[in-house]
Amino acid sequence: MKRDVDEHTGVETTGHVWDDDLRELNNPLPRWWLTVFYACIAWAIAYWVLYPAWPGIHGYTSGLLGYSSRQSVTSAVAEGAAARADLRQSLVSKPLAEIKANETLYRFATATGASVFANNCAPCHGRGAQGSQGYPNLNDDDWLWGGTLDEIYRTIQFGIRSDHPDTHTTDMPRFGADKLLEPKQIDDAAEFVLSLSGRSSDEVAAARGKQIFADNCAGCHGDMALGNKDMGAPSLADQIWLYGGQKADVRASIHGGRGGKMPAWTTRLNESSVRALALYVASLGGSK
Ligand code: HEC
Ligand code: HEC
Repeated sequence: MKRDVDEHTGVETTGHVWDDDLRELNNPLPRWWLTVFYACIAWAIAYWVLYPAWPGIHGYTSGLLGYSSRQSVTSAVAEGAAARADLRQSLVSKPLAEIKANETLYRFATATGASVFANNCAPCHGRGAQGSQGYPNLNDDDWLWGGTLDEIYRTIQFGIRSDHPDTHTTDMPRFGADKLLEPKQIDDAAEFVLSLSGRSSDEVAAARGKQIFADNCAGCHGDMALGNKDMGAPSLADQIWLYGGQKADVRASIHGGRGGKMPAWTTRLNESSVRALALYVASLGGSK
């Protein structure tokens, strides 16, 4: 078939004509475009040969390089686990103070502790360990059972009034429920407790309560009511209240005792987790 050539440009046309004289020119493709086009084809062929590409009946062509994404993930995961196993081992075998002094190990411990905390402790102590009524805040520097690293570790290991033989045990007596004090005396004692944080509204009752306190309470809470960590007895002279600082709350604490319980964790979590938790909790609370 004879080619039709456009008279103005000298370029061959495709033979398509619109509206009688509108013709489509058949310009060749630009050289740069063709170069890129052929390079892509060459690259694709090289890729098919080197990497896994074509599906077959029993699998796929595996490629000359033998690459497999599954294998590369598996080996990365194995490497990570091996690195962590070393850290985990040190976490169990080294003294806590030494772990704290080692930057890499300490970072690993507190990160592990934070995630174990979120799973096991947050339901009671809160996501940010801020606590709530009956569950102590672990961020502050006010500790029922002691705030050193070793004391915190011990508390977490064995729990508080838990079923573990090494648990913290001291219970506050149920002064009202067990009729150790008359309701009137409980009222006076509560008034005295309020007076310690400057909130008593009845000086005379507070003065009577002072003697009741000295006779019944100072043994655990201390002469100045500053608390005693061996007994888990909180300071009653500050603004921090585990069970509430209103008069009704204080009266209820004296009437029934509280007996807050925390499970032992040494029987529930592995040793590296318990130690990581101790380091994490201590890092929150300005531990001494
Ligand atoms: C079932 C609720 C509960 C869970 C879960 C729980 N705790 Fe506790 N925890 C308590 C209570 C209640 C107390 C306070 C007990 C008391 O009155 O002495 C406490 C006290 C503590 C104390 C002592 C605070 C102080 O001032 O001396 C530490 C430390 C502690 N918890 C850490 C943890 C860690 C770490 C976990 C997670 C492994 C955890 N707790 C999980 C209820 C819980
Ligand atoms: C055998 C030791 C012991 C004696 C005696 C004792 N307490 Fe306590 N008290 C505790 C302990 C332990 C707690 C913490 C209870 C808990 O965490 O469940 C506590 C908690 C309290 C609280 C709650 C504090 C808060 O932060 O909410 C008040 C109030 C209190 N005691 C007042 C008294 C008064 C008043 C007396 C004397 C009439 C007294 N206690 C006698 C051990 C004692």
